[in-house]
Amino acid sequence: MPTLLSRGPSPRSLLGIEHLQRPEIERLLERGTHYKSVPPFMKLDTLRGRSIVNLFFEPSTRTRTSFEIAAKRLGADTIDIQALGSSLSKGESLVDTLNTLAAMNPDIIVMRHSASGAPHFLSRYLSTPMINAGDGRHEHPTQALLDALTILEVKGTLEGLRVAIIGDISHSRVARSNIHLLGSFGADIVLCGPATTVSENMTRLAPGVSLTYDMREAVRDADVVMMLRVQLERQNVEVFPKNEYFRYFGLTLEHVQLAKQEAIVLHPGPINRGREITSEVADSQRSMILSQVENGVAIRMAVLEWVCSEQDGRKRCAS
Ligand code: CP
Repeated sequence: MPTLLSRGPSPRSLLGIEHLQRPEIERLLERGTHYKSVPPFMKLDTLRGRSIVNLFFEPSTRTRTSFEIAAKRLGADTIDIQALGSSLSKGESLVDTLNTLAAMNPDIIVMRHSASGAPHFLSRYLSTPMINAGDGRHEHPTQALLDALTILEVKGTLEGLRVAIIGDISHSRVARSNIHLLGSFGADIVLCGPATTVSENMTRLAPGVSLTYDMREAVRDADVVMMLRVQLERQNVEVFPKNEYFRYFGLTLEHVQLAKQEAIVLHPGPINRGREITSEVADSQRSMILSQVENGVAIRMAVLEWVCSEQDGRKRCAS
């Protein structure tokens, strides 16, 4: 049985939104706003000499690339590891892989894994700070932060906004992290999806969450319509007829017209046109999809800085 050795007090990691305090979230959003204003060609020294391991066990375009760009803009070195091509494919366990990587003393490990709770389990034993880049259906904290930044840029506040979160909710780590964040900032959240993927239990995740199975009711008077990807890879059995999904839960221009006049549309991507959203909506002025991608770099710069700043504090305390 492989073991992980405890190496003293846990370093600061970003594992989820649920246990983050509101002032910490506000600080990350402020720093994200700051980094958004830094021209992309400007390379900073903030993390010069640091090394960041990006360890992705599930496919990713946005998260992996933006973590890499964010680290490089801050002056860090990055090491990109994917499951295929690593010694995992030779039978090495996840624990042994993480122990091996930690032994090379990187400053941060960014990890995406299909198992909910994988980074939480590993971070209890590793002295290397970890950032959760998405764990199964559990949390995707940097996605919720970049979504909040995107909403704040347009709306100026999260408090009192009506946010409809629509789609394959129970399989969605994006939904969970957003419910925690938006709920703690006083948004009114309406969940909507097939009855097999969302239940009353989800409304207890945060204050101000309600549930409807009627898409038109969900989008009516919404300030923000947040669509989710159908997570086919997490559905062991067919939980709804795929061919009928769009008819009941696909976002069309007609739906958007039921929302507030200045409503915006978010989707974490990758989008499946014609399944979750029409091209008319995805490419419309209401769509913030590419702003979300752009904000992902700024938020991940803020998160990398936040994790490293605590390490700096520890080193100063130790010396
Ligand atoms: N939103 C998101 O996590 O996208 P990727 O899977 O491309 O990283």
